[in-house]
Amino acid sequence: MHTDPQKTHTEKRFLHYPTLRDHPLKSAHTWIQGKRIDDDVGDYWRVYNKLYDLTHFADIHPGGKDWIRSTRGTDITELFECYHISDTPQTLLKRYYVKDITTPRNSPYTFNNDGFYKTFKRKVKPILKEIGRGPTHTMLLLQDGLALTYVLLTLAATLTESYTIAVLAGLVLSLTMIGAHNFFHQRDNLRMYYFDLSLLSSYDWRITHGISHHIYPNTIYDFEVSVLEPGRQEGPGSGRGMGEVQARGFFARVSVGVDGVVYVVYIDGGEVVGYNTHEL
Ligand code: HEM
Repeated sequence: MHTDPQKTHTEKRFLHYPTLRDHPLKSAHTWIQGKRIDDDVGDYWRVYNKLYDLTHFADIHPGGKDWIRSTRGTDITELFECYHISDTPQTLLKRYYVKDITTPRNSPYTFNNDGFYKTFKRKVKPILKEIGRGPTHTMLLLQDGLALTYVLLTLAATLTESYTIAVLAGLVLSLTMIGAHNFFHQRDNLRMYYFDLSLLSSYDWRITHGISHHIYPNTIYDFEVSVLEPGRQEGPGSGRGMGEVQARGFFARVSVGVDGVVYVVYIDGGEVVGYNTHEL
């Protein structure tokens, strides 16, 4: 039985129930397209209550053009706040100002100057200056080593027709992906494409994971919450805590079981290759 997600998530803090959220074929495309419809800013980019035209800026954005291009027509306030720590982006942004917008933002996040997030950013800034921002050389080496090992094992499996080596190659590939995922969270870079060795798309995952899940975690705008619905519902609901699972029906039980394996590999794999978030 499917419980109406409107009743089980924190959607009341957003103005809209996300358009296309219940599309039968959920994807990065449906998510960002739905957000474009909800944010309704035409061909511009919204930051707080101002619209900007970043068309020409995309190619010179230090973080890479994909971040800007893929978010055209949306409100990027959260992304803008979360991905920058220096004051330079704010100064630069003024150059691309087009006009003010009076419709309320479809987001509960306010980023008040004396609020949690801005205070946190101010406190983190000097620490980052001291410890550096990575990725460290060890991380780069590990990531390249994993990708290379995967390619060599695949070649060896093909030449020897060995299933054992093929399975090993698969395991190394999953570790390569886990590591590469850290790289698509950063500025455009070569190593993020190692993720695509798995035939999944780093471009799409940036949207469904980097933008949707990381920016709007456990909310109705979190793609990773919605993607397994209606079989399974995750997130705050019926008085349960964040991230708890409400299993419903056969499909839900199977998905919960599979998730267990995925997360064990994910977390343990991450530890094995040494990708701890504090190193980023
Ligand atoms: C979709 C929204 C955006 C995302 C997701 C994004 C993401 C990023 C990322 C990942 C980096 C690299 C950070 C690093 O390596 O430390 C970066 C750097 C930077 N971005 Fe953006 N960005 C966005 C919008 C903008 C806008 C609108 C501006 C200004 C007009 C801007 C200006 C900069 C600048 C100047 C840097 C260099 C680092 C710094 O001074 O903080 N970005 N951005």
